[in-house]
Amino acid sequence: MKDLKKLLEQMTLEEKIGQLGQYNANLFIQSGADITGPLTQAGLSEEDLKHVGSILNFKNAEEVCTIQKRHLEQDRNKIPMCFMMDVIHGYRTIYPIPLALGCSFDTDMVAECTRMASKEAAASGIQVTFTPMVDYVRDARWGRVMESCGEEPLLNGLMGAAQIKAFQGDGIDKPDNLATCVKHFAAYGGAEAGRDYNTVELSEHTLREFYLPAYKACIDAGVDMLMPSFNVLNGVPAVANSWLMKKILKEEWGADVLVISDYNAVGELLKHGIVDNMKDAAKLAFDNGCHIEMCSSGYIKYLKELIEEGVFTEAQVDEAVMKVLELKDRLGLFEDPYHGASPEKEAAACLTPENRALVRKAAAECAVLLKNDGILPFSEDVKKVAVIGPFADNHAIKGFWACQGRDEETVTVKEGIEAAIPNAEVVAIKGCGDQWDDLDKSGFDRAVMAAKEADIVVLCLGEPQNYSGEGNSRGDIDLPGVQNELAEEVMKANPNTAAVIFTGRPLAITRLSKTVPAILNMWFPGTEGGSAAADLLFGKMNPSGKLSMTFPQAVGQCPIYYNHLMTGRPKAPEMDLIHKGYASNYIGCGNLPLYSFGHGLSYSNFVYEDLTLSQDAFTADEKVTVKITIHNDSDVKGKETVMLYMRDLVASNARPIQQLIAFEKVEFEAGERKTIEFTIEEPMLRFWNNEHKFVSEPGLFHISTGYADHLVHTKELVLK
Ligand code: NOJ
Repeated sequence: MKDLKKLLEQMTLEEKIGQLGQYNANLFIQSGADITGPLTQAGLSEEDLKHVGSILNFKNAEEVCTIQKRHLEQDRNKIPMCFMMDVIHGYRTIYPIPLALGCSFDTDMVAECTRMASKEAAASGIQVTFTPMVDYVRDARWGRVMESCGEEPLLNGLMGAAQIKAFQGDGIDKPDNLATCVKHFAAYGGAEAGRDYNTVELSEHTLREFYLPAYKACIDAGVDMLMPSFNVLNGVPAVANSWLMKKILKEEWGADVLVISDYNAVGELLKHGIVDNMKDAAKLAFDNGCHIEMCSSGYIKYLKELIEEGVFTEAQVDEAVMKVLELKDRLGLFEDPYHGASPEKEAAACLTPENRALVRKAAAECAVLLKNDGILPFSEDVKKVAVIGPFADNHAIKGFWACQGRDEETVTVKEGIEAAIPNAEVVAIKGCGDQWDDLDKSGFDRAVMAAKEADIVVLCLGEPQNYSGEGNSRGDIDLPGVQNELAEEVMKANPNTAAVIFTGRPLAITRLSKTVPAILNMWFPGTEGGSAAADLLFGKMNPSGKLSMTFPQAVGQCPIYYNHLMTGRPKAPEMDLIHKGYASNYIGCGNLPLYSFGHGLSYSNFVYEDLTLSQDAFTADEKVTVKITIHNDSDVKGKETVMLYMRDLVASNARPIQQLIAFEKVEFEAGERKTIEFTIEEPMLRFWNNEHKFVSEPGLFHISTGYADHLVHTKELVLK
């Protein structure tokens, strides 16, 4: 443990302020004339660089070690820099995108993948990851839905907490572990019309009940840092939003967490028109508790002046700097500024056979079988397989934002199938492109020919991996280009066809769903995507993923989500069912989604036999035990996510038609029957009322199990 107080006392004000800046690694690698341009662009002098506290966007262990060594040689205080980066779904060995992880409903498996990523990333020099992203999402047009665990607040929070614990491991001072940063606070996922960086306008009860709980769960899990979001929230950009940053985060939640702005978000206060100069931007952000400024230079340029003018005291700067130093100390950087990283360790840790095996299993657990008219699983005895479509032999399926993950190290579907059934002949035909403007059908003939000659066809369709992720929104979320037409032609040639789709968002694949007898959604599955697809197609693995986000029938239904409020004029006679209670019906596509949250098929047949409650009325200090008996009425071993839903029938605020209050993923042997237990407690029934409080109200609740759009065994429960 370092004597941080003493260290702080010996620092000049410039040195202190430097700790509050974070910049790209390129500024620290280049030198001489090469550096002048980037430095001027960042508004920095070479002198400023000497004091900078942390770095992002570096390449590997070698680069980290070089920068750190050089820095420590010239820093009179010997304060190590801190190296931060985004490890979203793996570092070098890539697992499925977070939206797919949500579909696993398996926090242990997500923790296992995260541990693997942590070891690879730490060996490569990363000390802090900008993870987890727990933005709640309802609009599939937004490209960043891929980074979120979906439309369920409870699921989002549990997945966030699991990642935090897994990255931190047995202590962030240990070389295999990373510190974490929850983002993007708050409600970045509420971007109007699904446009990235767009305005967010949400009522307080919607924020409190759906958008904020996952960030709070991460604070409670002991996250090390927090990143305010880019967006305007109810009129004010997050980093300058005192309601959010002071009232909610500090006062209500008592969060004493180190806060870092998003990339240039302080500078963007000018673009938002909140201030007209960088000095005021720095003032606003610092005043609202943003300790580190990422990439813009308001603090480095103006904090000193703001202190001299009496706007801030040096003690306030000391407090912020102390938080940075504390993180460095907790990471053990004063003892080992490299945190155990080295090029040798990096080479040994990355892309090992064990890591590949883990992400293969994860990719299978996250995949969702959307449709199966009985054609899947395919027999392993087939002689000839045609793999058709733009993703048939395409390595670009690991997903956006995959750190050092490489397309060329990713297994394609064709390669996966070849390895799974080595005696079969496997041909891959692209047929058409995957871009929205790829309208060329000249490849169809070869595809049709191959389909005719094959025993089975695996149609590999989807959107390119860079159609989702930051800065990417889509106005049309069907399969891009002429992929639907390709599917139709291939089906005519050979009906023994199953589609496998690759996507970073829910797609409106209504047309495809009418064309093919089976659809397996792999999302973007990571390094072993093709192997996992083959495992599922030929029955080596049994699909068990359930959708974490609703697939609309048409983009016009967005935003669409299972936990919606009832309206005053629901569509009779199905008014009580999820997605059916809306006042009006869309002409053409109706109200129902294509596949709801919670949907996902299996090769097993799970029969929900019974649901019992230990009592039918309870008081706020009692607990109700729920027992659900499920029978795997098939000869296939499989996993089922058992979900518990509640509905508050009458309350002073309109309540969602259903809310998930507990879940557990359970494995069943063939023919096995199990009883799963959950506990209901009063806090699970609370909502944000008009008096600005979380409360539960006595009265009648419905408790159900099954899937969001197909609930079974509803029981009544009264809160006295
Ligand atoms: C911008 C993104 O919004 C954020 O998620 C990320 O952590 C930072 N850039 C740093 O890469």
